[in-house]
Amino acid sequence: MSDSPIARPLETDRPTPFDPPVELRKRPPLSRLAYPDGHLGWVATGYSVTRAILADPRFSTRRELLHQPVGRDRAQERPTPAEPGIFPHMDPPEHTRYRRLLSRHFGPRRVAELTPTIRRCTEQALAGMADGGSPADLVAAFAVPIPALVICELLGVPVEDRQAIQAATAVMNDLDSTPEQAFEAVMSITGTVRRLVAKLRAGPAPSDDGLLAHAVATGDLTDDELTNLGMVLLATGHLPTSSMLSLGTFVLLTEPAQRARLTGDPALAEPAVEELLRYLSILQFDVRRTALIDVEIDGHTIAAGETVVLALPVANRDPERFAGPDTLDLARSATGHLAFGHGVHQCLGQQLARTELRIALTALFERFPDLRLAVPPDEVPTRDRMAVYGVDRLPVAWGPAPAP
Ligand code: HEM
Repeated sequence: MSDSPIARPLETDRPTPFDPPVELRKRPPLSRLAYPDGHLGWVATGYSVTRAILADPRFSTRRELLHQPVGRDRAQERPTPAEPGIFPHMDPPEHTRYRRLLSRHFGPRRVAELTPTIRRCTEQALAGMADGGSPADLVAAFAVPIPALVICELLGVPVEDRQAIQAATAVMNDLDSTPEQAFEAVMSITGTVRRLVAKLRAGPAPSDDGLLAHAVATGDLTDDELTNLGMVLLATGHLPTSSMLSLGTFVLLTEPAQRARLTGDPALAEPAVEELLRYLSILQFDVRRTALIDVEIDGHTIAAGETVVLALPVANRDPERFAGPDTLDLARSATGHLAFGHGVHQCLGQQLARTELRIALTALFERFPDLRLAVPPDEVPTRDRMAVYGVDRLPVAWGPAPAP
């Protein structure tokens, strides 16, 4: 087990497309990590230490304090404090104010209200996939449109703006995008949301019941806050769910026994989603905290100013917390996993995401009972170095196999 800093940024070799990087698995629960910008920080891979750091108010998510563990060298970029409304990069009490305003839009009642919309978006995507015929790219036909449509509906984004938003969020989430590309993408989404907020300020139409229309009506937030909030929700509400849908389908197509359990027993859908979240833990490098003061933890001192990467995919495979962690077992109780984080920044959209995954994956295998990969598994392109792990394309087929 190595406790020394590695010379290069995180290596991303994996035994299978569903496993965390090997280099991270070899590490002790908390170890030193050399960041590409020259910072000597830390990486947490053990379940207990990861959970403890996420719950600890001595660690901050403030953007200006964070170092980046992979991707482009940001040494030349001067990090700035989060603008109003960019609450994931704020600490309490600023962070708490936004979470309180947003919580009712993501609570169980709102998610129950959105369930018919989720079913409609799923049916629409599946009908489009069937019409296009076999083979198809499941990412484009199914995994991207469902969460994108649902989050746009939740916010109240008009249909004509949705495609541009989808394209810009993909660029924004790509760690290998240049700073100029990432900036342009943020500006494009911000422009769309700003126009929408201005339209709503001028007088929401009676049918405007999206989150933004509600927020405008309550008058608690400025236009800048609303625009940035809209941007944050569009960016966070789309890619992780779409990655879970495609990677979740991919793993089920390579594990027929698990898939048969899911399709054979509808009651398994809820635990199955929790287990898929644990097993795949797609937020791989971007959950980070910086110590505000020196913190003694797990036999180490994390000095004030040092950044820790919380390697959720590895923490969720910790054998001290989950027995046989490298086995996908849809019937296990995976509750307590950290795929949605933990503590005050725990995922705002987790109930929505769970419902989307349950409805969409169940409907997919009902509609296409003989769904299969259209290429060998090692030809499916994975997004190894992106903050949100997943696949770029997932070629699938159904119906009679073509004659040899
Ligand atoms: C935060 C995962 C879907 C909105 C987070 C965090 C994780 C996560 C790990 C914590 C980040 C941290 O502590 O630094 C996921 C996964 C999803 C998903 C795996 C899908 C399966 C969604 C959806 C939304 C959403 C559908 C809807 C808008 C957010 C927001 C935050 C967040 C706003 C920041 C919360 C805060 O800082 O207070 N998510 N998420 N997520 N997520 Fe999700």
